[in-house]
Amino acid sequence: MNNEAAYSPGLEGVIAGESTISRIDVERNRLSLRGYDAVELTESVAYEEVAYLLLHGELPTPAQLETFNALLRAERDLPEAVIDLLRQAPSTVHPMALLQTAVSALALHDEEAHQGDRQANLRKATRLVAKIPTAITTGYRLSQGQEPVAPHPDLDQAANTLYMLRGKQPAPYEAQALNGSLILYSEHGYNASTFTARVIASTLGELYAAVSGAVGALAGPLHGGANEKAMEMLLEVKDASRARQWVLDALAKKEKIMGFGHREYKNGDSRVPPIKAIAQQVAETAEGGKWLEVGQVVEDTMMEEKNIFPNLDFPCAYLYYMLGIPIPLYTPLFVSSRVAGWAAHVIEQLDNNRLIRPGHIYTGPEYRPVVPLDERG
Ligand code: COA
Repeated sequence: MNNEAAYSPGLEGVIAGESTISRIDVERNRLSLRGYDAVELTESVAYEEVAYLLLHGELPTPAQLETFNALLRAERDLPEAVIDLLRQAPSTVHPMALLQTAVSALALHDEEAHQGDRQANLRKATRLVAKIPTAITTGYRLSQGQEPVAPHPDLDQAANTLYMLRGKQPAPYEAQALNGSLILYSEHGYNASTFTARVIASTLGELYAAVSGAVGALAGPLHGGANEKAMEMLLEVKDASRARQWVLDALAKKEKIMGFGHREYKNGDSRVPPIKAIAQQVAETAEGGKWLEVGQVVEDTMMEEKNIFPNLDFPCAYLYYMLGIPIPLYTPLFVSSRVAGWAAHVIEQLDNNRLIRPGHIYTGPEYRPVVPLDERG
């Protein structure tokens, strides 16, 4: 096979590795995590159980879950030095940039940071799952001139995240909705950020470095950053009566509609129906149900005009808006869930490691002589 024949822009269709963690079954329009249907998980378990499943390969027994929850709750606090770092950051910094910095800074205060064996990585992954929601909410509250709210020992991951953000306990339906979104966001194959994490792990770079690199990759609007951009777009659209024309105008200008399209799913993202069902339930109680209608017109128009389906980021954007979550925190919340998937991939990569180092086709100038400096220009 010559190089040109093997080349696929954006690595589309390229098989870059094997994995036992998740299966994107495009034929059956289904996502499974370690063999369990993601929708079934969303309807029946807590995010912590899925994080355990991703990290350890099996759903926890009651005793294992109790130990895991105790570990997570004991690890939620941030080192003082990391809080100080977040306090010193300019309030204009995007929470994803802050979070990437916080992840790197957490490594400085973890004695096991450079220990790369499986057990150490599992312990560090558990710490990251526990601390990232605290880093997100602490950084955000400080940027708004508010003091951080300490984690609540009696609340699970989803409820505690909303509690630390708002300073008061969420209603059960709100925590349940966030829990569902966290499960759907937790893992999705060799996507760009996960691949980034695996590349870093393949150099024997350490877990915090892999996660911090993955946060950087996820921040881009073609990846996780799309959930924030999708909500900004919906706010611009304003209401359902304007939505169709708004989309037509944007398409005429060759703009991309954020939260639509997917590299793997060409007939719809399997995570969209469950998140829309959650958004529907929330709309029955919370204000903001109109965004479901606006979203539906955008969706219908995209289908008619481009035959392109929404991805998870689109309905998740208006779900988070209805939950009153500030828009710049949508992608950080995605991180708070996906970190379990990233860590599982890092561990899997290291279990059977080979340096990831693709080739490329050179398209620059032919060999040429170096012209002395005083003869150039
Ligand atoms: N809005 C409008 N057109 C879109 C589109 C979108 N969201 N997504 C894809 N398209 C169009 C492209 O313009 C292109 O059309 P063309 O062939 O006429 O040039 C065609 O569909 C293929 O798109 P391409 O960007 O090459 O597909 P991809 O597999 O490389 O990209 C995404 C996948 C996700 C990067 C792309 O769909 C996108 O940019 N979506 C918006 C960002 C987003 O929601 N990201 C989150 C992904 S989970």
